[in-house]
Amino acid sequence: MPVRLLFLTALIAMASCRDRSRAEPETPSDLARAEFNGSYPDNVEPNGVVRDVEIVAAPSELPLVDGKALQVWAYNGQVPGPVLRVRLGETLRVHFTNNLPQETTIHWHGVRLPNAMDGVPGVTQPPVPPGGEFIYEFTPKDAGTFWFHPHVRSSEQVERGLYGVLVVEEASPPPYSQDLVWVLDDWRLDASGQIDPNFNTRHDLAMDGRWGGAITINGRTDTVLRVRPGERIRLRLLNSANGRVFAPDFGDLDAQAIAVDGLYLPSPVPASGFELAPGNRLDVDLVFDRSSSAPLEIWDRFIARRPNRLATVEIDGDLVDTPRFASPAHAHVPAWSGATTIPIEHTFVLDAQSGGELGIQWTIDGVAFAGHDHAMAPALTLERDRFYHLSFSNTSPRIHPIHLHGMFFRLLTRNGAPSGETWFRDTVLIHPREQIDIGLVPTEAGTWMMHCHILEHAEAGMMTTIAVAP
Ligand code: C2O
Ligand code: CU
Repeated sequence: MPVRLLFLTALIAMASCRDRSRAEPETPSDLARAEFNGSYPDNVEPNGVVRDVEIVAAPSELPLVDGKALQVWAYNGQVPGPVLRVRLGETLRVHFTNNLPQETTIHWHGVRLPNAMDGVPGVTQPPVPPGGEFIYEFTPKDAGTFWFHPHVRSSEQVERGLYGVLVVEEASPPPYSQDLVWVLDDWRLDASGQIDPNFNTRHDLAMDGRWGGAITINGRTDTVLRVRPGERIRLRLLNSANGRVFAPDFGDLDAQAIAVDGLYLPSPVPASGFELAPGNRLDVDLVFDRSSSAPLEIWDRFIARRPNRLATVEIDGDLVDTPRFASPAHAHVPAWSGATTIPIEHTFVLDAQSGGELGIQWTIDGVAFAGHDHAMAPALTLERDRFYHLSFSNTSPRIHPIHLHGMFFRLLTRNGAPSGETWFRDTVLIHPREQIDIGLVPTEAGTWMMHCHILEHAEAGMMTTIAVAP
């Protein structure tokens, strides 16, 4: 190194040394906060483009599952509902009409938005009555795969078919050959082949929610993915089921996970085996760089359960040039390796007790959510822009995919051991009798729900709020 450059480097080192000695000593939690810098933006400047969308929720009859006419509740007469696509910087304005026989709302799962747009009855807005309307308007701050669904009687309303996907694209999206959305769901049909109208059964409440025998992708059991050799596909997976956990297995296809719950990973990881719990999204980068005469299959292999075939892949036709670009998964995610030494702010205890209208109550810290018409004190109040170490202790023998509205977190440990996860989430599956630790920096002020995304558990009380002070 030339002498002058060396001298300069020494000067800079001295200067930054002096700076540090003048400042207050940094605590581990300040360091964790600083490490978070640049993870995701504080704000996005609206670019003036407003996307006006009309959404109507109403009963409908559609060819679903294996193609038979199914009576459902649908957004805009479709199950899944429409895929809304906006670019980062654009404002989404949804003119919503409720033509259901029940009150409802739309919650924008995973989206950092103003609290008043979050769609939680009794917390952020009054429920929309039958025949009523509401306008949701916000400018998403993050590009990625998000979704929307009712937050009223969701174990019934989501099960009847009310869910849709919101894709927020970055200013220049990576040039994939195809960008596809697959919504995974399961259906419990009765003897007449219609949606079994017995919601919140004793069994479903006490076990892991309502699991149905008919597993569908975008509402159908017969999904075939047709690709040409050479194609590179972005596959956006969403689990919209009430209770079923999926674990997709792509066999020997080249399948890399690039985003979880909307946000990019710091680097891609193999996608097979990822536990896609209710509420989770997984974006997969699939490269079909060869032809194949035999159809390939994508399976669901959630631990210890019978594998289910999800879809068939047919690679056919003329070879196309594979789009060559670096994986978009290069986000900044704090490692937070020292974070577990920071004192735990709060441990949430997840458990059940008998009682309540449904006979069983799922509780957080011994309390069952009293329903949207009862005011409830937040379980926890956090300050914006600070690092928090939180813990969840599942003392029950059931699974709980816990979802936080309005924030992302990183899974630090499972049962005290490093999780190995390098990415942010908004929903994490907590296994029976498991203890997990997470780290987070709240960025959005407001009262945010925290609940189990097994919708029967949520309905039976496993719901609370976290207040984030401005
Ligand atoms: Cu998708 Cu409050 O949840
Ligand atoms: Cu649960």
